Amino acid sequence: MSEIKKIGIMTGGGDCCGLNAVIRAVVYTAINKYGLECVGIKNCYRGLYLGESQMVPLTIDTVDEIIGDGGTILYNSNKDNLFKYPRRDKNGIVRDKDGKPIYDDVSHVAVENIKKAGIDALVIVGGDGTLTSGRDYSRMGIRVMGVPKTIDNDLNSTDQTFGFDTAINRNVEAVDCLKTTGRSHHRVMVFEVMGRDAGHIALHTGIASGADAIIIPEIPYDIVKIKDRVKKALLSDKKYSIVVVAEGAPAPDGKAVTAITQDFSPDGVKLGGIGKLLATTIENMLNSERDENGYAISEDILDVECRASALSHVQRGGMTSASDRVLCTRYGSAAIDLLMAGNEKHMVALRDNEMVAVPLEVVIPSNDIHGNFKPVDPNGELVKIAKNMDICFGD
Ligand code: F6P
Repeated sequence: MSEIKKIGIMTGGGDCCGLNAVIRAVVYTAINKYGLECVGIKNCYRGLYLGESQMVPLTIDTVDEIIGDGGTILYNSNKDNLFKYPRRDKNGIVRDKDGKPIYDDVSHVAVENIKKAGIDALVIVGGDGTLTSGRDYSRMGIRVMGVPKTIDNDLNSTDQTFGFDTAINRNVEAVDCLKTTGRSHHRVMVFEVMGRDAGHIALHTGIASGADAIIIPEIPYDIVKIKDRVKKALLSDKKYSIVVVAEGAPAPDGKAVTAITQDFSPDGVKLGGIGKLLATTIENMLNSERDENGYAISEDILDVECRASALSHVQRGGMTSASDRVLCTRYGSAAIDLLMAGNEKHMVALRDNEMVAVPLEVVIPSNDIHGNFKPVDPNGELVKIAKNMDICFGD
């Protein structure tokens, strides 16, 4: 007989489509198959710190209708690392004399609240940051089953993360829209997509939408080569061009393009703006290469016009794709099966189309959360296929 009678479920890090489908599968499997009690912990680790007020019972009725809904009924937080928690008083964050925040390790409060609530195991859905804390709680004696999450699909420990497929579908639909308007005006449409460190979203979006160029952080690019490929498209019968760029790709001079910096975010800076910068750069380059008539490209395109678009967080919201719903149901259900089979310090992973348990100590071996990072392979099959399709990476 398992000692696990009651489980707590929480979602951490940035949201993405599919979290609710995971919660639903966890609750269904836990209740129907194993007769467990389920508690949702709101706001991830902050919920564990605050205790009872953040805990809600989860039943089949609570989760039955949420399979397709984006977001998470339990809310996300990516700023509440209880092992390094910013101290607060009535004025907000407490700072030292140099203006730096003062941090405390308050992880023991979470452990006390888990015990007080009678929770025997935690199912923690999150990315590397969230799972690093999960690993650390497992070191403190808490049973933990992690579920990997990131829209960027850049985790080495699992073959595919959920939310990625939904984002690609949303992006491809958007590029299909950009194509009709771009075609009408013979324009260059630059489309910026998410992907902080890795270009998987850009690569898949670009291939699936028949782009002319894809720019990703993993492949250094020469802007002249991108410009030449765009020009080739403008001179072809279609007379417009699509460029897909990952937000994490640097500017042509190698510098990161950031939108905002943020206190207490694990990422520190928020990316955004590379699409606009590239659109202006490519437009200026092409318009400076005129023929004797003063035409930038042809009689159809006297002056090149580039426009930049980005769906930004739209990629993370809305309804979840069918494929992600299936993947999430597999992740959530397997998380409980593997936990009940005795994997108590593990993460569920998709490996060769099977759901398996991987020790958290293997997934997150050190405090370098990028140890689990899976970039696009510049020499991999997908990049080669994209090149066969005459997609230019600027290399
Ligand atoms: O890591 C996932 C991700 O969606 C990145 O692609 C993006 O840079 C970042 O999160 C955005 O974070 P936030 O929601 O905090 O703006």
